[in-house]
Amino acid sequence: MIVEIDRLGTNGEGIFIVPEGEQKGKICFVDFALPGELVDVEIVKSKSNFCVAKLNKIIKYSENREIPICPFFAHCGGCDIQHMKKNFQIDFKKNKVIKTLSKYLNNLDNIKFIRLNDLYYRNKMVFPFCNKNGQACLGMYCKNSHEFVDINYCYLTSENINKILKLSKDFFSKNKFDAFDEKLNKGILKYLVVKEYNNQFLVSIVCTKLINVKDFYKILNSEFSEIGLSLIISNSNDEILTGEYIHLYGLKQLSIEEFGINYNVNILGFLQINNAIKIELYNNVLNEISYNDVVIDAYSGAGLLTAIIAKKAKNVFGIEINSSASKSSKELAKINNLKNAKFINSDVKDVLIDYLQTYKSSVLILDPPRSGCDKKLLNKLIETKNISFLPKKIIYISCNLMTLVRDLEILNKYYDLQNVHALDMFPQTKHVECVSFLNLK
Ligand SMILES: C[S@@+](CC[C@H](N)C(=O)[O-])C[C@H]1O[C@@H](n2cnc3c(N)ncnc32)[C@H](O)[C@@H]1O
Repeated sequence: MIVEIDRLGTNGEGIFIVPEGEQKGKICFVDFALPGELVDVEIVKSKSNFCVAKLNKIIKYSENREIPICPFFAHCGGCDIQHMKKNFQIDFKKNKVIKTLSKYLNNLDNIKFIRLNDLYYRNKMVFPFCNKNGQACLGMYCKNSHEFVDINYCYLTSENINKILKLSKDFFSKNKFDAFDEKLNKGILKYLVVKEYNNQFLVSIVCTKLINVKDFYKILNSEFSEIGLSLIISNSNDEILTGEYIHLYGLKQLSIEEFGINYNVNILGFLQINNAIKIELYNNVLNEISYNDVVIDAYSGAGLLTAIIAKKAKNVFGIEINSSASKSSKELAKINNLKNAKFINSDVKDVLIDYLQTYKSSVLILDPPRSGCDKKLLNKLIETKNISFLPKKIIYISCNLMTLVRDLEILNKYYDLQNVHALDMFPQTKHVECVSFLNLK
């Protein structure tokens, strides 16, 4: 059927109301179609309250449409919105933030949108292996599936990581290694993980058993002087970076110096994906901290943000559940001689209220995973009888608008949302990172 696209959905897909036929009146989602476009579509999935259509042809183009730079766009699952012009991508993300958070803001001008780069921003890539014509091949997965796409370049990452992808594809196709087949639960190579910082590179092969890749390292090292190779022996089909870590050759970790802090990150450690936006994010947080603040950094990861805060605040406590990340943060404090930073290896839900009460902290930073904060913990926090220990400020860093709004709804009882900085950590994708600044009412 031929329809006009009405608006965009939260994932950047076009939306229209089915005008005729059996599905008449239902909301319908169509990937890669833009508002105002006249399109020829075909309904491919129908549920009780919505349907999904496939875009066959664009009859009238939107002025906001861009020709995607990548030939694999729409096949590869890495990008969602390369078909939108830059300013339209920004409007799409900004509107999404406004729509979700406007209920909590007095003035919409208090939402600031920051985009610092368009392409080549990712400092880490995970490429899956797949058997193709009897050879192990590297590429990407399609959207929402493990269907393989044989790509030879990714515009979201650096020239150097793309060079490593090319060298790896050449090596593994010539050397008769068997890729892991998820359906048959058989084979060896699962993923190639590459991480980069300032001309230092870490490469790891996720595989099911020990393999001899000395010649592969020689090839990598002939191109890059500061590079390391490791294996992750994995028996899990769900988690990519779990398993036995075995360092093989060269560099073991990336050495980084930022904000006056020296730190090391290995292939398993957390590093924000977009370096420029990471610096903006940490500066945004730092601007809110003053010299006599006592800060609790809940969900502190490997402690980089906590350490940066320690340089400015009176005292800071980092709470992290992952023991290896917590251990790294303790080392970080030692290397940088940070006497005012303490790290607690615990679940935030078990210790946060005690720490808030004992140390009367003035700022609480929440930087939870996509699933958001523990709902029971937030309820406990705001249902408490004696509210004198509640921090004056909360800075909530979130990569998931849905869980952010769920948590703001609870915090709203005692906290006003003042400003939101929406950071484009992942250009060309539907995702947006938000830093929300809340003040005690
Ligand atoms: C988004 S990362 C934080 C990154 C860190 N703020 C930084 O900038 O480097 C979220 C962290 O929360 C940790 N985490 C998840 N659930 C937790 C919990 N219940 N208690 C404490 N930490 C948790 C994860 O292990 C992860 O390191």
